Amino acid sequence: MKGILLAGGSGTRLAPMTRVVSKQLLPVYDKPLIYYPLSTLLLAGIRDILLIATPQDLPRFEALLGDGSAWGISLRYVAQPAPEGLAQAFVLGRDFLGRDPVTLILGDNLFFGAGLEQQLRAGRERVATAGGATIFGYRVSNPERYGVADVAPDGTVRSIEEKPKAPKSALAVTGLYCYDNRVVDIAAGLKKSARGEYEITDVNTAYLREGTLRLERLDRGMAWLDTGTVTAMQEAARFVEAIEMRQGLKIGCPEEVAFRMGFISREQLVALAAPLASSEYGDYLRRVAAEPA
Ligand code: G1P
Repeated sequence: MKGILLAGGSGTRLAPMTRVVSKQLLPVYDKPLIYYPLSTLLLAGIRDILLIATPQDLPRFEALLGDGSAWGISLRYVAQPAPEGLAQAFVLGRDFLGRDPVTLILGDNLFFGAGLEQQLRAGRERVATAGGATIFGYRVSNPERYGVADVAPDGTVRSIEEKPKAPKSALAVTGLYCYDNRVVDIAAGLKKSARGEYEITDVNTAYLREGTLRLERLDRGMAWLDTGTVTAMQEAARFVEAIEMRQGLKIGCPEEVAFRMGFISREQLVALAAPLASSEYGDYLRRVAAEPA
């Protein structure tokens, strides 16, 4: 299973903050936004990752994250020349994916909670062995902002609609998706929607029609946070701050996840902390490295 981290888009709703800096590089409390979805992929055990961003932003991501080897993963990069929709990620990632299945995560989605790792692994493994697609649904108070799933009592997905004016349910489709390799051809065959994009919802609908779309519900004990507006960014930052202050543990710290997942050794973690010496983030990495095994 490979991973795609999609950090495209022009971030117009966050202008002027996004005039010269990609939205996914802006801070959410104590780290760049992109660290959160990247950590989620690592938690799912995915180590071979393609990052997609605009041609202007790509060099900044490369400067921040490198080739991944320091974190025991492989990171590759490809530019999305124009913001033509999420589904384009699979076409841009065709060579990277080869014949492998893929987990796509949107670079501005923040997930947190016990059980996420297991649910993600289950979805990922099901797709790798049985094929088809698995998406993740989460109850929200403003479903009209998202892709919305209508699910029958037996769990079958009846429909998925993109930003419906009259949502059939409160279940939003989150920015985390597992697909078999056919997604590349499905995405390549799409037509642009009325808003001029290749829609991820159309990809999901293709799997729905052939009866191979499954939806995993992320329950109320989990957090799925949006960063679409200035207010949502601030709320996400406050959420991360509250949990981190209370527990003394970080959310979305890729170095820590890489260490706990066994991708890097204790010595490698200490080495990663060295250049961050004067920051609280660096102190944290050193503390994690000093924990008894
Ligand atoms: C995109 C998808 C939508 C999904 C959302 C999750 O919307 O089109 O289906 O629910 O991501 O973050 P966007 O936020 O790009 O408008």
